[in-house]
Amino acid sequence: MHLRFDLLHLIVLLFVFQLVSANVCIKPNVYITQKISNEGFHREINWLIEVLEPTIESWEKTKCKVALRLDVPSGIYVNPDEINALNETEEVSFRISGKVDIEVPAHEAKEHKVYVYFNNAYINRISIDLPFHLRYQRSQITGGYGKVYLQKPSLLVWCENNLNKICQKGLKVEAPCEHFSSKQCVWKNLSYDALFDDADLFVPIGDLDHYPIVSIVSLLLGCAGSIYVLSILSMTPL
Ligand SMILES: *[C@@H]1O[C@H](CO)[C@@H](O)[C@H](O)[C@H]1NC(C)=O
Ligand SMILES: *[C@@H]1O[C@H](CO)[C@@H](O)[C@H](O)[C@H]1NC(C)=O
Repeated sequence: MHLRFDLLHLIVLLFVFQLVSANVCIKPNVYITQKISNEGFHREINWLIEVLEPTIESWEKTKCKVALRLDVPSGIYVNPDEINALNETEEVSFRISGKVDIEVPAHEAKEHKVYVYFNNAYINRISIDLPFHLRYQRSQITGGYGKVYLQKPSLLVWCENNLNKICQKGLKVEAPCEHFSSKQCVWKNLSYDALFDDADLFVPIGDLDHYPIVSIVSLLLGCAGSIYVLSILSMTPL
């Protein structure tokens, strides 16, 4: 009698424990900083991703994977050849989704997506550099600047058994499971603290023929300036 009672007790306890542990989910606390470096047509996005929570131990237990997705608008492109060269880093792997034609101007181009997969399930602090290029804009007016709007990247998370290991009720997104396969998985779109704003990139429109003149003029101005400075220096009494 005694024994049976204890057994029952144990079963109930186990059941309760099961319920509680099933409800334990982690709430990632992620900060992302984005910087666009370089001017002109060839630029680079620099991301710094910092995970304050969860701790390494609890993150490893979840067996969840993390990836970053950038929706590349038609005004810019990421060069697949360049990405292949980057592909060899240990920390991340890249994948481009969609066809990229690097020749066409903005109004003929299609959008594509870039996925950055983190090779180690757990990331703590990681920086990623992604080179990209602005496309030529159709010249309707001469000169001036066109604008390309770059959305913030999406932070996606995928867990082996259950997406509910991540507390947040993020929207579900279909994306390739791995950088090397086209098999689709359902990921959670995680919200993060963005320490930056959406970016507007300015692209010179048309009038590309004027560029040589501009550079010659600035070169001449530079020369004139140096000659002027030199002449002043040489007139200074010693
Ligand atoms: C990165 O390398 C994998 C092979 O390891 C390849 O399947 C994938 O297409 C490459 N990514 C890109 C963006 O080219
Ligand atoms: C993820 O969510 C953010 C805002 O919550 C949204 O701007 C973004 O478009 C979403 N990403 C995807 C791939 O749905």
